[in-house]
Amino acid sequence: MSRIASIYICQSCGAQTRQFFGKCSNCGDWNSIIEQVDSSLNNRRKKSSSNSWKEPISLLSEPITSLKETVLDRLTSGYSEFDRVLGGGLVPGSLVLVGGDPGIGKSTLLLQSATAMAVKQSVLYVSAEESAQQVRLRWKRLKGSESNLHLLAETNLELVLRELEALKPAVAIIDSIQALNNENLSGAPGSVGQVKECASALQQLAKQQNTSLFLVGHVTKEGMLAGPKVLEHLVDVVLTFEGDRHASHRLLRAVKNRYGATHELGIFEMEGDGLSEVTNPSEIFLNRKATVGVATIVACEGSRCLAVDLQALISATTYASPRRTATGIEINRLHQILAVLEKHLGFSLSRHDCYLAVAGGLTVEEPAADLAIATAVVSSHKGLLLPQGTVLIGELGLGGQLRPVSQLPQRLQEAQRLGFERAIFPSGSGLTKMKPELNLELHEVSNIGEALNIALGVNLDIDENYRNLFK
Ligand code: TYD
Ligand code: MG
Repeated sequence: MSRIASIYICQSCGAQTRQFFGKCSNCGDWNSIIEQVDSSLNNRRKKSSSNSWKEPISLLSEPITSLKETVLDRLTSGYSEFDRVLGGGLVPGSLVLVGGDPGIGKSTLLLQSATAMAVKQSVLYVSAEESAQQVRLRWKRLKGSESNLHLLAETNLELVLRELEALKPAVAIIDSIQALNNENLSGAPGSVGQVKECASALQQLAKQQNTSLFLVGHVTKEGMLAGPKVLEHLVDVVLTFEGDRHASHRLLRAVKNRYGATHELGIFEMEGDGLSEVTNPSEIFLNRKATVGVATIVACEGSRCLAVDLQALISATTYASPRRTATGIEINRLHQILAVLEKHLGFSLSRHDCYLAVAGGLTVEEPAADLAIATAVVSSHKGLLLPQGTVLIGELGLGGQLRPVSQLPQRLQEAQRLGFERAIFPSGSGLTKMKPELNLELHEVSNIGEALNIALGVNLDIDENYRNLFK
């Protein structure tokens, strides 16, 4: 088969060569050169040599107000958690990239969803990694029912494109994009050039015939290999499927979404017969029994609020410099909170090890968790029990002051729904309108000392400087 001319482009400096090099001769970067088909260049040349510019000019653009609005008829993925992350369902003709570590459950999720979607429309599942028999066995394990699901075990891009064109399915799933091979390119399957070319060829065809396309992509440990990172700008939606492989629940997150909000979160549980939806996730991340060193926060993930336990363990250190570890929280936030507690409340934490963990392997990125972290630390350090049914929400400033957080009404409503009795949060959060609807004991506080005294029911000795600060 004759090969099409390829061009090699450095991703760092944009230098172009006709030959592949491991190191860019222009900028000196290693492994930054990718292979691309040169056809676009040829086309452009052809166009520019024609005399089309001499023809009478008619406008190609039109006023935005005269454009007809089309209603997006979204397809349902068969799972409300999946639909939520997609922004309310799958948009016809959209390109969705599902990334995640190998073995996390991407194929399981998409095969289950494909089976559900195939009840109403035709769906093509292209398995480039597993044989048709393997997929069929998995489908049986997932208790797949009668549906219009087509299966193709193929790695050759040409054949996959031909099948897509012949079947014209409403939805197609490519599992995975790294395993597809464009024979016109010399790079191995999974190389950056191959992945990009395969994805853009699939995208063109899918947009033409209004097929929604799911691409599965693996992420390596370094996040380096040709995969989701290279494709992120090409696709409409980027979802990541993550979770602790040793725990059963899995989190589906929207990292980019042209048709909905990002940071939306869908929660699933991996069971013996596939993934099931978790509709009341707070149950997973909460321990209803009051324990020393545990504080609860209502965290927001996209439009969803989740009650999550934060656990701290403080013990005298035997090391030259104390150990600090944080699981599910950024370590720098922990350092900052410990510094505030030491400076303004006089706790001698510099001679103590500090371990912090978010229950259930969840990651809480928002600063609204600061108050709960500080309370968990003090609770463990002083051996004080935080009364059951308390939630703490608030961002901690370096001066010990508490800052208002976003979406407070939703957070408090979720706390009430879950049966919490009291909430401690920063003053100035604009809650006055909400109050009548809430059946919670509300405590608006302005600084960390005040919050700790209310939360732990003590009168902690507050540093003089600090007291002056809030007079
Ligand atoms: P898989 O979907 O193959 O992962 P990926 O496509 O992301 O590489 O799922 C891998 C794991 O899920 C595998 O270790 C087995 C487990 N699993 C279950 O626990 N229950 C099930 O019903 C299925 C199908 C898989
Ligand atoms: Mg797989």
